[in-house]
Amino acid sequence: MDENTNSFRLPLIGDPAPAFTAKTTQGDINFPADYNGKWVILFSHPADFTPVCTTEFMTFGSMQEEFRSINTELVGLSIDSMYSHIAWLRTIKEKIEYNGIKDLEIKFPVIEDISMNVAKLFGMVQPNSSTTQAVRAVFIVDPKGIVRLIMYYPAAVGRNMQEIKRAVVALQKADADAIATPANWQPGDDVILPPPGSCGTAKERVEQHPDDVYCLDWFLCFKKEKKG
Ligand code: BEZ
Repeated sequence: MDENTNSFRLPLIGDPAPAFTAKTTQGDINFPADYNGKWVILFSHPADFTPVCTTEFMTFGSMQEEFRSINTELVGLSIDSMYSHIAWLRTIKEKIEYNGIKDLEIKFPVIEDISMNVAKLFGMVQPNSSTTQAVRAVFIVDPKGIVRLIMYYPAAVGRNMQEIKRAVVALQKADADAIATPANWQPGDDVILPPPGSCGTAKERVEQHPDDVYCLDWFLCFKKEKKG
């Protein structure tokens, strides 16, 4: 709810993630409180037992430890029942081999959202796409419960989980070093200094920058990352 108008507003970047409690395949969760101190990728998919979603789940599932190593937890959601979730996850484990991944137990929680309560709270139901299925939404929520990045993909386009991981790492880097990351940045690449806020700092940037800074122009300065 918007504090000023008392009306409902979808969460945007920089907003506190809407709080909810839900049943999941790993037990009840209280979001985002249960994830205090961790990054979370809250993502929706259109439906269980669908082909693109299966490839996404298997890819995310195979990367769970990789995400944990960057202090990040996965939480999935679709507008399906718990029984459907359980049956689908069992099928994935018992029958599906995809991209070299097999016998995969999905250990991250998958929210049962047959009521659409959570999906509606996060704008995952987009009626011109479908009134009964969520779009492929991704909310990256930081350790303080703030929404830091939002992606919406349509049902026909599977997401790139490496890009989602890259985005988390870029946010963590931006927070730690007060920098920004350029196009196609990968960990270890040079980073960008925030634009100077005054004529004085612009001049200083170009004329007196430290050895590990190089500028293409006064507003576009990179900081070298230490290699190796
Ligand atoms: C899929 O996951 O394959 C899918 C889901 C809904 C519509 C189209 C494709």
